[in-house]
Amino acid sequence: MLNVTAELFFGVENSLFFRRFGEKGTTLLDIGCGNGTYLACIGEHYPDMRLTGVEIEEEMCRKAQDKQKRNLTFVHGSYEQLTGTGSYDTILARLVVPHIPDRSGFVKWLYEHTSEQSTVIVIDFDDERYRDNDELPLFSSLYKKARQSLKRKGTFLELPDALLVEFRHAGFVHLGTEWYSVRTDRRDLKQVCREYMLLATEYLLDTPITAEREKELDRWLDNDDSFLEIPMFGIVFGRSSGVL
Ligand SMILES: C[S@@+](CC[C@H](N)C(=O)[O-])C[C@H]1O[C@@H](n2cnc3c(N)ncnc32)[C@H](O)[C@@H]1O
Repeated sequence: MLNVTAELFFGVENSLFFRRFGEKGTTLLDIGCGNGTYLACIGEHYPDMRLTGVEIEEEMCRKAQDKQKRNLTFVHGSYEQLTGTGSYDTILARLVVPHIPDRSGFVKWLYEHTSEQSTVIVIDFDDERYRDNDELPLFSSLYKKARQSLKRKGTFLELPDALLVEFRHAGFVHLGTEWYSVRTDRRDLKQVCREYMLLATEYLLDTPITAEREKELDRWLDNDDSFLEIPMFGIVFGRSSGVL
């Protein structure tokens, strides 16, 4: 699944968030790096950067460690367990924030591990702009339920708004928000997306996909007029407004 999201999104996210990584020798920490595919993409584009990924799930981290090389290191554990008090030039938190229970502790930790010149990039799905797809009723309702279960109790704020409040409270400055989406309307992208939906279904239901659900995905794939729009957002925070 993570390989698929990297394939679908890296191009657009690279141009929106990472292009400024031209300078040599900068450091980046990827919190919740999963199997490391996304960070490895960054490494290929920016070979002079020193990249570290941290991943809490052991098996996932082992897959990431298979991709380890000169400028790319993966550490097993939760982000708070990273040793050393140094700061990173960039910290990336992609598709991980909803999984972190102690958000104020998380933001405080980010502040303590960044400098005045650093940036923090938070990238996630934008639930507010996500619309049910009439041709994918089974998948849409499963996906929506999964996202609902990640929502924090006791807040009416959507994730992007909550992040603005929490990061500002911790001392960060909001440097910009990008709203973007990937529209999978080309056959090759649809194929990648079908694969993602199949794997996501099996992951969320913890069972092989049923014939009915698979038929829904195949019908969607074969209909030339159908597509899927995946809305995302990325917020960049700094410690002072002159960073970008
Ligand atoms: C949906 S995946 C995203 C992976 C990757 N960032 C990407 O964009 O492809 C979220 C990952 O964050 C990891 N994770 C959750 N809490 C974490 C923590 N406290 N420290 C490190 N990793 C964590 C999960 O195990 C999972 O692999």
